Amino acid sequence: MKRFRRYYYDLFSRIYDRIIALHSKDKSESLRRFLIKKSAFRPGQRLLDVCTGTGAVAIEAARYVRGDGLVVGVDFSEGMLRHARKKAEGQDVPFFLLADVCALPFRKESFHVVTCSHAMYELSVETRRAGLSEFRRVLMHGGRFIMMEHTPPSSSFIRFLYMVRLMTMGSSGNREFALDERPEISRFFNDVSLEFAPTGRSKVVYGTKRSQ
Ligand SMILES: C[S@@+](CC[C@H](N)C(=O)[O-])C[C@H]1O[C@@H](n2cnc3c(N)ncnc32)[C@H](O)[C@@H]1O
Repeated sequence: MKRFRRYYYDLFSRIYDRIIALHSKDKSESLRRFLIKKSAFRPGQRLLDVCTGTGAVAIEAARYVRGDGLVVGVDFSEGMLRHARKKAEGQDVPFFLLADVCALPFRKESFHVVTCSHAMYELSVETRRAGLSEFRRVLMHGGRFIMMEHTPPSSSFIRFLYMVRLMTMGSSGNREFALDERPEISRFFNDVSLEFAPTGRSKVVYGTKRSQ
């Protein structure tokens, strides 16, 4: 099943950026800035962008890096990463690595921030939970995990397609998660909050790693 998903994303990577540009009508850049702002990422810190796709969030975050700071983007699709590396050609950061969210190749407490944009709904429930546990492990104490997703569309046809996407890419447990992510995120992180982007069509959910 995972092999099929990876193959799907490898194919999708060829048109991904064009689809996003069409879909978001150029608001995606301001959304990425909103995500980075809410992540509380500071120059000199280390940020990990999981399910980085073609690297849009990692490349935006890299603009804030100073000194020892670092941005790493990981994805399990070599196709997506090929596009990400091409977009970041000539830049010192970000680095892009092939990795599954279920087994991140980093030591515990390596990052100040973990971001995940428009991917949590596409993971199976098991992968999402294994991933959340990994995000917690690689975050430093006091570090922030932040995810961004679309809010359910208002048009009934688009809402139908949105629900089909949730059901086919994940499972029925994803519908519940999409309606309110906070209960599940609270199992891994503290002080969990939800905020809407200025466009009103996207939201971020974030929490902090505290010792329990
Ligand atoms: C919809 S794209 C989002 C890409 C990017 N974050 C963005 O906002 O444009 C979802 C990404 O999640 C990646 N992905 C899905 N399952 C994964 C897994 N188990 N481990 C790592 N990456 C995964 C896919 O390869 C794909 O690039």
